Amino acid sequence: MANNIFDKTEKTAVAPSILSADFANMGQEVETITKFGADLVHVDVMDGEFVPNITFGPKMVKDIRPHTDLPLDVHLMIAKPWRYIKNFVDAGADIVTVHYEACGDKLSETLEQIHALGVKSGIAINPDVPVEQIYDLLPKCDLLLLMSVFPGFGGQKFIESVLEKIKQARTEINKRGLNVKIEVDGGINFNNCKTVADSGADFFVAGSAVFGAIDIEQAINALKISK
Ligand code: DX5
Ligand code: ZN
Repeated sequence: MANNIFDKTEKTAVAPSILSADFANMGQEVETITKFGADLVHVDVMDGEFVPNITFGPKMVKDIRPHTDLPLDVHLMIAKPWRYIKNFVDAGADIVTVHYEACGDKLSETLEQIHALGVKSGIAINPDVPVEQIYDLLPKCDLLLLMSVFPGFGGQKFIESVLEKIKQARTEINKRGLNVKIEVDGGINFNNCKTVADSGADFFVAGSAVFGAIDIEQAINALKISK
């Protein structure tokens, strides 16, 4: 991994979501966010089944790989994700995050599969899922992705009730002495990022706040909050 994003960091890390980028110029878009200080590239994979939208598959990861040395943070919003983990890792993913709601009783073995392939693992949970549901699997993951919108689309409004979940997750991770990073995904902007950081977030996913900005460099830097 090109940077030490999973080590202790003073500020929140920014993972622009390419869902909000111009798909017709994706290589250039990835080079732009890399140049302007992004810490990760968030890759939103959607299958039209787990979520009501379709984006791209492993070939997008393969094609953007040469355009950045940042970690590729792949968010699988797909049914039965264990079927495709190896495809995304072979394509160049550094982090593979799967949904609790998509895995059911296969979540534990899916996290093991991701680690066995030599990359970082993540669990994602939707806004309406109590965070206690995944406490026992925290030791098997490097990243906890707390959705602050229901998955499927960029540009949605941040769901305020997730703030309490972030605080709960932070408390539990600290209590267990784990180094699990909390990534918050959905509706992050310049008005709420400080509150979300103060609640315990380590990484911000930001699609529309970055790719919709006139000044992308300024937008990325405004989301780097001292913790
Ligand atoms: C939604 C995706 C998010 C989304 C974030 O299903 O998982 O990563 O792209 O976009 P914004 O930051 O615009 O809410
Ligand atoms: Zn995402």
